[in-house]
Amino acid sequence: MPAPNSALEPGHDCPICPRLVAFRDTARAAWPEWHNGPVPSFGPSAARLLIVGLAPGLKGANRTGRPFTGDYAGDLLYSTLIKFGFARGQFAARPDDGLALIDCRITNAVRCVPPENKPTPAEITACRPFLINTIETMPALRAILTLGKISHDSVLRALGAKLSAHPFVHGARHDLGPVAVFDSYHCSRYNTNTGVLTTPMFENVFAAIRQEVA
Ligand code: URA
Repeated sequence: MPAPNSALEPGHDCPICPRLVAFRDTARAAWPEWHNGPVPSFGPSAARLLIVGLAPGLKGANRTGRPFTGDYAGDLLYSTLIKFGFARGQFAARPDDGLALIDCRITNAVRCVPPENKPTPAEITACRPFLINTIETMPALRAILTLGKISHDSVLRALGAKLSAHPFVHGARHDLGPVAVFDSYHCSRYNTNTGVLTTPMFENVFAAIRQEVA
C-alpha cells in the first residue's frame, strides 16, 4: 500500500464537483444552521471494519454532519452495529447522542450530498481519492462492508481490483488479500420498505463480518 496521507481530506468548501457545490450553496442559503459540507468519516481509524455508504442524505448526514445520522437509513445500520458489538450507547439520530463505534468506521463513497441521492460517475470518481485515503489510513483494516453497488464499485476501484472478477452480489464476500469486501444492499428506506433488504438479511451479512473480525 502507498504511504498514507492524512492531509487528504475534503475541506468544508471542497470545490471539486461543480454540481455538488451548487447544490450545497442552495442548501446553505436555505438552511444555514445545517452542516452543508463534505461529511467526514465517523469512528476510529484503528478500526478493523470500514463501512462505505453511498452519499449523505440531504436532511440526514448533510444536516447533522455524521454519516447515516438523521435520516431513515441510519436506524437499521446503527441498531445492527450495536447488536453485533460494533457500537455502544444509544443511537438518537443526532451527532451528540453519545453513540460510539467500536472497531468500526463509517464513510461514504461520495462525501457531499447529491441531488436526488444520485451522484454522477464523474462525482464518484472525483471523490475516490478521499475514499482511498480513508482506506490507506486504516492500518488494522480487515473488512469493508459496501452498501449498494455504487459503494461496491468505488471500493473495488479504490483497492485496484477488477470489477468483472468481483461483481456486486448481496451477501457476497470478496477476498482481496489483506482485506475482505462484504456486499449488502443499501439499508435505505426504499430497500427496507420494499423488502429488498430485510433485517435478517442485513444481520446475516454482519454475522459473516463478525466471523471475519472475531
Ligand atoms: N446517509 C449516509 O451517510 N450515507 C448513505 O449512503 C445514506 C445515508
